[in-house]
Formats: sequence, C-alpha cells, structure tokens
Amino acid sequence: MGISNLKSRIDEEISRKLDIKSFSSTTTTLHIADLGCSVGPETYSAMQDIVESIELKYISEGLNSQIPEFLVFFNDFSSNDFNTLFSALSPNKKYFAAAVPGSFYQRLFAERSLHFVYSSHSLQWLSKVPADLVDQNSLAWNKGMVFYTNAPKAVVEAYSAQFAEDMDSFLCARAEELVRGGMMTLLMPGLSDETPLSECSHCMLYDLLGSCLLEMTQMGLVSEEKVDSFNYPMYIASPKELQGLVEKNKSFIIESMEMVSPLTMEDEMPSAQVFTMQLRDGMQKPIKEHFGAEIDLDDLFDRFSKKIADSSHLIEENYKKPNHLFMVLLKLGD
Ligand SMILES: C[S@@+](CC[C@H](N)C(=O)[O-])C[C@H]1O[C@@H](n2cnc3c(N)ncnc32)[C@H](O)[C@@H]1O
Repeated sequence: MGISNLKSRIDEEISRKLDIKSFSSTTTTLHIADLGCSVGPETYSAMQDIVESIELKYISEGLNSQIPEFLVFFNDFSSNDFNTLFSALSPNKKYFAAAVPGSFYQRLFAERSLHFVYSSHSLQWLSKVPADLVDQNSLAWNKGMVFYTNAPKAVVEAYSAQFAEDMDSFLCARAEELVRGGMMTLLMPGLSDETPLSECSHCMLYDLLGSCLLEMTQMGLVSEEKVDSFNYPMYIASPKELQGLVEKNKSFIIESMEMVSPLTMEDEMPSAQVFTMQLRDGMQKPIKEHFGAEIDLDDLFDRFSKKIADSSHLIEENYKKPNHLFMVLLKLGD
C-alpha cells in the first residue's frame, strides 16, 4: 500500500536538507540503497523519484555540470527473487543497478560508501523471535498467542527489547556505511504515541490472522503445540520509542519524524482480497517455515479474508488514521 504524499515528502527533504555540497566536488557516482526492496514494483518508482529529486537539487544549486552518475543497490535476503526484480527494471532508468543480498541488520556496504538510504515497510521485521517467548519457564512465554497485542507485559517487553537491539544494529551498520551528511529515509508501520496498543490498526490485522490459526487448532487442523511455539517476528514501534533509540545510538540526527497515513479520508478502502494478498505476501514465509506441510495456507488465508470482510468498518476506521512512521535521519560527522 503506497503512502499518498511520500514522494513529495522525500523530495522536500532532499531539497531542504541533503548536503550535496559536502560531497559534490569529490563524488562522481552517488550511491543509493533500498533496504528490503522485495521484487517490485514499489522500489522502481521510489528509486527513480529519489534520483530525480537529487538531480533537481544539483540543478537548483547551480551545480548542473557536477550532476553525478547514480548507482542503486537493491538489498533484500539472498532468497529474494532478484531475477524478477532485475528483469522488470525500466530500460529508461537513470541509474546503474546492483543487488546486495543479506540482512540489513549487518554490514552490507563498504565504509563511507553510501550517500542515501531508503527503506520502506521492512524495518518492522525483527531479526528473530525473542527466545523467551517460547521458553516455558519464562514470564514472557507467549502460550496460546502469536503476537504481543493482548499478551502479558513481559511479552511486550521482550518484543520491544528485540526491536531495540535490531534497530541499534541497523543504525550502527548504516553509521559506518554512510558518508557524513548522508541521508536515510525510513518508512514503517507505526503506532502514534497517543494510540493505545488495543487500537493499533496493524495489530488488528495480525490478531485476526492469529484468531484464524487458533480456530484451526480448535478444529484439529494444526497442532496446539505448533501454535504455542509460533510468534510473528515483527514489531510496531512508536515515534517516541524510535526517537529514544536513535538518540541513544548517537550516530544520526533526526531531521524529521512523523506519523503518516496510507489512505486519505476520500480514498476507497482496499478490498478484503487486497488486504489478504498483502498480508499473505509478508506472513506466508514465516508461517510456512514454522508449520511446514501441516498447514493449509489457502485455508488459513481464506478464513482471514472472510474475517476481514466481516470487520471492514473497524479496519476502515483505523486505517484512515496515520499509522505509518516516516523518519528522516542525517549521518553526523565522525
Ligand atoms: C513488505 S516488503 C517491502 C517491500 C518494499 N520495500 C515496499 O515498500 O513495498 C518487506 C521486505 O523486507 C525484506 N526484509 C525483511 N527483513 C530484512 C532484513 N533483515 N534484511 C533484508 N531484507 C529484509 C523482506 O524480505 C521483504 O522483501
């Protein structure tokens, strides 16, 4: 699901804050990375837009003769279908392209080699499920649940601690890879500081999927033990939480941080099928890895689609509120 005015927000930040003068005299190739790019199509337009915004910035500063060439690194796990991604790249694109496989929670690029980092809808994925959630002796044992929305405090804390650890690894890796003044724009599902967890629109969707899994357990279609040991490896952060993590890391300044909406009040809500397809895209892999052949994924997502259709008013009400976190960070000097 796109964010309606994200392009103009990124354009504005590049125009206002990207310090091209600090690298224009020495840089003939500008390096941009999309972290968690998947297989398209969102990454194509995002990368093209960023390249065009940076070109405009050079022109507006009278540096036409110094407009660099652009090299875009498309990053995702090595299991990502990079062939599909690269076979649909436009022949008219204004950049060279390369794939960089691997987890963005580790170093992926050479020291001080990146000028711009973009990541959309990827940082909510944790590097792993916190171990305590499946430890029967831990207060954070998440028996009978697959997420933290209605779980005991210890479960919420275990998730939040894992997110903090991952975010710190992400920021440390990028701090080494970005040049001074390099910009990072990050978009991820979020929860505004004022919204209680019980009203988190993303969590509602995950909880609906969780209720389908529990229903299938009650019907004997999947084993209870498998559901007890399954937890979504994702986390929905708030601006306050992220601000604290960035400040603690000390490598970046926060240029901008705001909650944005995927839909305006006038937009049509996506259908239950579209919601199901999008959720299935992300969730299918961890579910399949955990449950193996035991689970009928079509059955699971059919149940989910029906539940979405039944709760459409609730989802619409919540989905039109700002529920994504958009953040712009600038790399500080060493
Ligand atoms: C929902 S897709 C987002 C795709 C695209 N960026 C967009 O905005 O539509 C999330 C992507 O992040 C990738 N991803 C999740 N964790 C990652 C990690 N640690 N390192 C690299 N990629 C990761 C997933 O493989 C997936 O392709």
